[in-house]
Amino acid sequence: MQLIVNGASHDIDAEPDMPLLWVLRDILGLTGTKYGCGIALCGACTVQMDGMAVRSCQLALQDVEGEITTIEGLGTPDAPHPVQAAWIDHQVAQCGYCQSGQIMAAAALLALDGAPTDDHVDSVMSAHLCRCATYPRIRAAIHDAAQRLAPG
Ligand code: FES
Ligand code: FES
Repeated sequence: MQLIVNGASHDIDAEPDMPLLWVLRDILGLTGTKYGCGIALCGACTVQMDGMAVRSCQLALQDVEGEITTIEGLGTPDAPHPVQAAWIDHQVAQCGYCQSGQIMAAAALLALDGAPTDDHVDSVMSAHLCRCATYPRIRAAIHDAAQRLAPG
């Protein structure tokens, strides 16, 4: 099956029901996307499919419809995505395990709502488990990133 990940096309030889997370980590070597619960509850495995946040642990390869973006494809060290730049400035990460999923979800949120309220931020991001409780810094960084993404 052909899969487009971070702008590159890959011919994937795997069982159709293999979770996308396994394809990304074990076949393509993109280990920035993390395995947490495996049952679509924690959000650690979040990637984007055509810009929408999806939980790759519960998305079978055969059900992928669209281009996949992982944390490796969101920005580069020299040109980080505005969400990544805000994350660095606010020193959001603690242990870091949940953070690639948080960043992918935050970027998808801001693509839909360029000026989210605290309530909107909290309603989306509280569905992403952070055992280090970085939620106040996540919220601050999202508002900062919204400013960076604002036109003009
Ligand atoms: S590992 Fe996918 S939601 Fe937890
Ligand atoms: S930074 Fe440790 S789980 Fe979120």
